[in-house]
Amino acid sequence: MTVESTKAQFCVEKRFDTIPTLDATRMRLFEVLQSDDADIERVERIISTDPAVTAKVIKLANSPFYRHAQQHLGLHQSLLTIGLDMVKCISLSMTVMDRLKCETRYARDLWAHSYAAALIAISLSTNKAEKDRLFTGALLHDLGRMIFLFLAPEVYTALIDSEGCRPGEELERQTFSLSHTELGEAVARKWNFPGEIVGIIGSHHRPVNHDSALICLINHVICRCEMGIPEADPSYLCMVRPFLGDGYKDLVNTIVQRYKTNTVVIENLF
Ligand SMILES: [Fe+2]
Ligand SMILES: [Fe+2]
Repeated sequence: MTVESTKAQFCVEKRFDTIPTLDATRMRLFEVLQSDDADIERVERIISTDPAVTAKVIKLANSPFYRHAQQHLGLHQSLLTIGLDMVKCISLSMTVMDRLKCETRYARDLWAHSYAAALIAISLSTNKAEKDRLFTGALLHDLGRMIFLFLAPEVYTALIDSEGCRPGEELERQTFSLSHTELGEAVARKWNFPGEIVGIIGSHHRPVNHDSALICLINHVICRCEMGIPEADPSYLCMVRPFLGDGYKDLVNTIVQRYKTNTVVIENLF
């Protein structure tokens, strides 16, 4: 299928109502993980009722990245091994992944990209409130692309193939009449995510405050690392500088280093 042949027929707005709602139990787990009194025992009680999340947590804890001994870890030890931040990453991503089923290589690459952004955002946060905000905003910053791959996998795949990378907002608008930032913002609102998360998703390519500038820079540097160019484009630095100050230069190096460290653990998430 070519992009040209589908441009005229596809309208995201008409399919907007077919986007599923999120699973209430999974969202409850995520809320517990975000709460101040989240502890391993409480999280374990909730996770043990969810076989899919349990399996993923145990699989990651027993992967070569964490495990060097022969003994197989159960759920409790697995939670202690990978930590609550990683459990949060698994629970929110599976909440969204299960609803937006798309088994293509591009969907997998997009999730790997999103995990990297989330783990780096957590590591750069200075307090709990910021960590919660930036983590969710980073993990879901490209929610719109995930929705495009769910609603129109053939069209979006053709766009990626024609560009040789994830398409820019202008091409998305020409094809679907809206971009992934606009679509992601609309769906995050439909799913009742907090306003600051909706804001990050909607402005991660055109930052309007500190949060969106940080996610914009993280996203940009990760994209460049994925292309084998571990440095930032000057035009992006101009966009984020008003919100991040002169510290942005050190941030670029930190993001590149953490991207390299995190790619190993991310491989074990699939
Ligand atoms: Fe994006
Ligand atoms: Fe991105």
